[in-house]
Amino acid sequence: MTESRSIKTIGLLTSGGDAPGMNPCIRAVVRAGLARGLKVVGIEDGFDGLINGRFHAMGARDVGGILQRGGTILQTARCSEFMEPKYQMEAIRSIHDGDIDGLVVIGGDGSLHGAQKLVERGVAVVGVPASIDNDIFGTDMCIGVDTALNTIVDAIDKLRDTASSHNRAFLVETMGRESGFLAMQAGIVTGAELVLVPEVETDVDLVAQVMEAAYRRGKSHCIVVIAEGAKPSINELAETINSMELGFSTRVTILGHIQRGGKPSAFDRLLASRFGTKAVEYLIEGQSGVMTGLNGKNIEAVPFSTVFSQRKSLPMDQYDMAKILAR
Ligand code: ADP
Ligand code: F6P
Repeated sequence: MTESRSIKTIGLLTSGGDAPGMNPCIRAVVRAGLARGLKVVGIEDGFDGLINGRFHAMGARDVGGILQRGGTILQTARCSEFMEPKYQMEAIRSIHDGDIDGLVVIGGDGSLHGAQKLVERGVAVVGVPASIDNDIFGTDMCIGVDTALNTIVDAIDKLRDTASSHNRAFLVETMGRESGFLAMQAGIVTGAELVLVPEVETDVDLVAQVMEAAYRRGKSHCIVVIAEGAKPSINELAETINSMELGFSTRVTILGHIQRGGKPSAFDRLLASRFGTKAVEYLIEGQSGVMTGLNGKNIEAVPFSTVFSQRKSLPMDQYDMAKILAR
């Protein structure tokens, strides 16, 4: 993983779904790079900008005032061309033309797989995990998770106010196509009556039982948090639940992309700053094919081979705890 090569210019890009905290990470990479005497080049629109050579040099002032901004000033993209070797070779050509000696790729699981393709072709790359889903193995947290969680909590607290006032149940969908992390943790900290995650299939009848039992226990509201990829889906559930007499009348709220926006939380700003600074250090040390990972309180260089070796699993102790605390 470590090779000696002299790094003079580093490139950085953000890729895949945006995550709050990408901007503080860009700021950290730029300023940590400049502090080490490197030239830093921003690559626009993820791998698409890499293929097409949309690069610009970045100075300390270019990243002023972005610490508190959601989104990414470099823009991000999903770039299907980059899956093809032909376009990966185009990207290599752009990297050579731009005299880039090392690359920081900030993005989710897909983006890290893209980064691996460049590593296989001899480019020095360090990945930084950024995805609100928290679905990347090898790091306790990804950039964006904490902010998204706070956004969900704020929304559910508000829904609970109106639910209690009307004696209603709310089915609330969070993001997470393949991971129930956000839904589960949001469920715990908002006191949801039930959480549905993609990792565990739940019977519709069980959901109905839980809702009816909550009504019988005298609850004035009932919140069911459903991850995007859960089975049954929120729409299937709503259709069945609405045809039943469970005490509560039911409303559906899909939180959608508001979860990806907003000011990064203090936690995400700090994590992004630490990850960005470490990514630069790893490149200077000659590391490549590694991801910055949070392990407890420490940041570690996690080899891509480890990152891709398994799916990050849902902490089932927390999932069970959510059920116990919902009584
Ligand atoms: P995320 O990084 O948020 O998980 P995606 O899964 O959409 O988002 O991946 C972002 C981009 O990374 C893709 O549009 C593509 O350009 C690149 N990518 C993903 N998987 C691969 C792969 N196996 N090979 C090459 N590039 C990939
Ligand atoms: O991977 C992050 C994520 O927000 C998922 O939770 C969600 O399923 C997906 O991206 C949505 O992607 P898009 O931005 O393409 O709608």
